[in-house]
Amino acid sequence: MTTALVTGANKGIGLEIVKQLIDLGMTVHLGARDPERGEKAAADTGARFVQLDVADPASVRRAADSLERLDVLVNNAGITGGRLNSPGDVDTANVREVYETNVIGPIIVTEAFLPLLRRSAHGRIVNMSSTVGSLADMMSNDYPDSLAYVPSKTALNAVTVLYAKKEPGLRVNAGCPGYCATDLNNHNGIRTAAQGAGIAVTLATLDDDGPTGGFYDDNGAIAW
Ligand SMILES: NC(=O)c1ccc[n+]([C@@H]2O[C@H](COP(=O)([O-])OP(=O)(O)OC[C@H]3O[C@@H](n4cnc5c(N)ncnc54)[C@H](OP(=O)(O)O)[C@@H]3O)[C@@H](O)[C@H]2O)c1
Repeated sequence: MTTALVTGANKGIGLEIVKQLIDLGMTVHLGARDPERGEKAAADTGARFVQLDVADPASVRRAADSLERLDVLVNNAGITGGRLNSPGDVDTANVREVYETNVIGPIIVTEAFLPLLRRSAHGRIVNMSSTVGSLADMMSNDYPDSLAYVPSKTALNAVTVLYAKKEPGLRVNAGCPGYCATDLNNHNGIRTAAQGAGIAVTLATLDDDGPTGGFYDDNGAIAW
């Protein structure tokens, strides 16, 4: 049976990814930093809770040591920092916190679970990114000019490409869920979290000859 781990999965898009992977028959480990929230979400979905704070290497190590196999890793946990940090008005400590979670976190988690993923016959890594991180239209788009969240997703895209390059036996891709109504944006998004989960499920279930090192949403490839 295929085994998956989703980080930041006690709510929002991560929780919906968990539900959809379980519906496909996978054994799913629901990663959450808070045991109470994580245990509850796992009990509600039939997933297995694993305590995992992506910014805390010790907790990631413990989580990796507790699993015997892994086929699918979804690096979903992410934060905005709750502050815009536009050029000229930056709280660098806040920016650092966002990078720790959105960029360093997925690297810590991926490094910890890579040995298990390499042993899988169908290893997949999905990094939940965002079109706001796309450099292609950053000069002209209408997205908030956050020096925290926006470049964190640009960096996550580069991290995705480098893992894809070094791990040709895996399928490693970045996905954008679209603008979904979750706590991340005070529920201003226009899609549901369940809709946003769809691209992660698509990338988690790619065929062995499927793409790697790409960036996708429900409409197909996104310009970097
Ligand atoms: N919503 C959108 O429109 C949208 C658009 C593009 C991309 N995305 C991306 O999609 C992903 C999920 O976003 P969402 O909208 O579902 O956000 P959300 O509802 O705010 O959920 C974020 C999840 O990440 C967890 N998390 C935060 N920091 C963590 C850490 N250090 N360790 C472990 N878990 C941590 C949160 O846990 P707690 O409950 O403990 O805080 C929560 O479970 C993020 O990477 C986000 O950037 C979202």
